[in-house]
Amino acid sequence: MLTSILEQVKQIAINVGEYIRLEAATFQPTSIQAKGLHDLVSYVDKTAENRIVESLDKVLQGASYINEEGGQIKRSAEFTWIIDPLDGTTNFIHRIPHYCISIALMQNDYLVMGVVYDVGSNELFSAIRGKGSFLNNKPIQTSHAKSLTESLVATGFSVNNFAQMQPTLLVLEKIIRQTRGVRRIGTAALDLSYVACGRFDAYYEFGLHAWDVAAGALIVEEAGGVLSDFSGHKDYLFGSEIIAAAPSVYKEFQSIINSTFFSK
Ligand code: IPD
Repeated sequence: MLTSILEQVKQIAINVGEYIRLEAATFQPTSIQAKGLHDLVSYVDKTAENRIVESLDKVLQGASYINEEGGQIKRSAEFTWIIDPLDGTTNFIHRIPHYCISIALMQNDYLVMGVVYDVGSNELFSAIRGKGSFLNNKPIQTSHAKSLTESLVATGFSVNNFAQMQPTLLVLEKIIRQTRGVRRIGTAALDLSYVACGRFDAYYEFGLHAWDVAAGALIVEEAGGVLSDFSGHKDYLFGSEIIAAAPSVYKEFQSIINSTFFSK
């Protein structure tokens, strides 16, 4: 059942991606709205989300939703879609062609399917629990970096939650000093997908929402990566902090973040 649902979800992402691509060509910065401090949204995010929900309703009737723009729709207790219709909205608005659609399916409390579609590069990452992760239908795996010194690390910074500014800056300094470098490319779902296919060796971020990470997290897990919150527990979906890394560097990486964020 999940395999056939996945094929339909991939097609939905590609179709809505086509809409976003067309809008990108003519998008006017005057169409921006602010959801909160520095937190931007446009009619493109909202229309994309409506189209995704309308299509998913036909794929799995009666499922619940946790959506970035539309909030929560409670229906089935068993199945919940978690959707970010345009992850990387700020990139989109500033005409940086690095944004994606992220769609995950949760069955009871478990993520069972994830699709991340990079609209600009036409790369589609996908996973079903227990069946591995794929990039454009080819299997992918996390990197084999031997240590942090060999690692390229991704992160992001919340634009309006500054509660952890001090440890965020301290961790950043440590990571800059101890790795091949840091990238902040502006979409959590693609950061995670890049960890899954070994382009990044590790990723961490504070202040995220479930829709930013749900699909990408399953894609990392199914590609052999390790996921946790900053303290090493599994509350990364709703706990607003996430670490994702290749198994070979996870411990070293997590211990830097944990000791910096939770040192007293
Ligand atoms: C944002 C992106 C960004 C991350 C932010 C998210 P949005 O999502 O994933 O990389 O740093 O915290 O809010 O708002 O573009 O869907």
